[in-house]
Amino acid sequence: MKKIYLYGNWKMNMLQAETATFFKNFVAAVDSKMLGEAIGSRVEVAIFPPYTSLAAAQHALTSIDKRISPYLGAQNVYFESSGAFTGEISTSMLKESGCTHVIIGHSERRALFGEKDTLLTQKVKACLDAELTPVFCYGETLTEREQNRTFEVITSQLHALDSFSSTDLKRIIYAYEPVWAIGTGKSATSAEAQEVCAYSKKLLQKLANTPIEVRVLYGGSVKADNAHELLSMEDIDGALVGGASLKADSFLEIYKAYATY
Ligand code: PGA
Repeated sequence: MKKIYLYGNWKMNMLQAETATFFKNFVAAVDSKMLGEAIGSRVEVAIFPPYTSLAAAQHALTSIDKRISPYLGAQNVYFESSGAFTGEISTSMLKESGCTHVIIGHSERRALFGEKDTLLTQKVKACLDAELTPVFCYGETLTEREQNRTFEVITSQLHALDSFSSTDLKRIIYAYEPVWAIGTGKSATSAEAQEVCAYSKKLLQKLANTPIEVRVLYGGSVKADNAHELLSMEDIDGALVGGASLKADSFLEIYKAYATY
């Protein structure tokens, strides 16, 4: 049975009180439905709150008696370790806040904040050096898909990682997120997602020069009603969920779809 990854990217949402409520309700619901023990070790849950809610999330997790223990992650990081970088956050700051994972290269960072391959590579390296797991996002826009350029774009985005060793490439978690499916309610079909995830795995093996096993998640309008089908595809190892991760109820529904997988 494959290990499944269910990650929730909260983006610029969720104040501290909302964060505490989410964890209380989500963990209580998992426990009351007896879902925790059975699948807690098989499904890895991670939540990526905004920086300002990390402490509230950490506090909620330490004060809840729980059977599943979600990991905490950040939505961004800077590659330098300290210094005059106003507004930025370092890997050690994230670790001190309880983070084990960091999202890098989300399409919103690429499109709205101009983050380019070179910077993303530096961020991935900083995370690996600090023993944080990078969750590296990539995916094509609608125009690129319509122009039949999906594989060309994906190849180029993943090639940003070609300086990493096979051991490092294995430590990264990959999230294929077609830009046209993010926050639009229009998910890729399971066949479309499978095709790109399978291609990504082959490409990463080529970059590694050896048949490594990598984990590739799909993201883009994942909800309870499509989670199970997406996950049943051979090369999709989990989901990076945005909108549907903001409420304990809707996130639990996806967790349940995974639990019964
Ligand atoms: P969505 O976002 O689930 O709201 O489409 C996914 C993401 O951006 O990671």
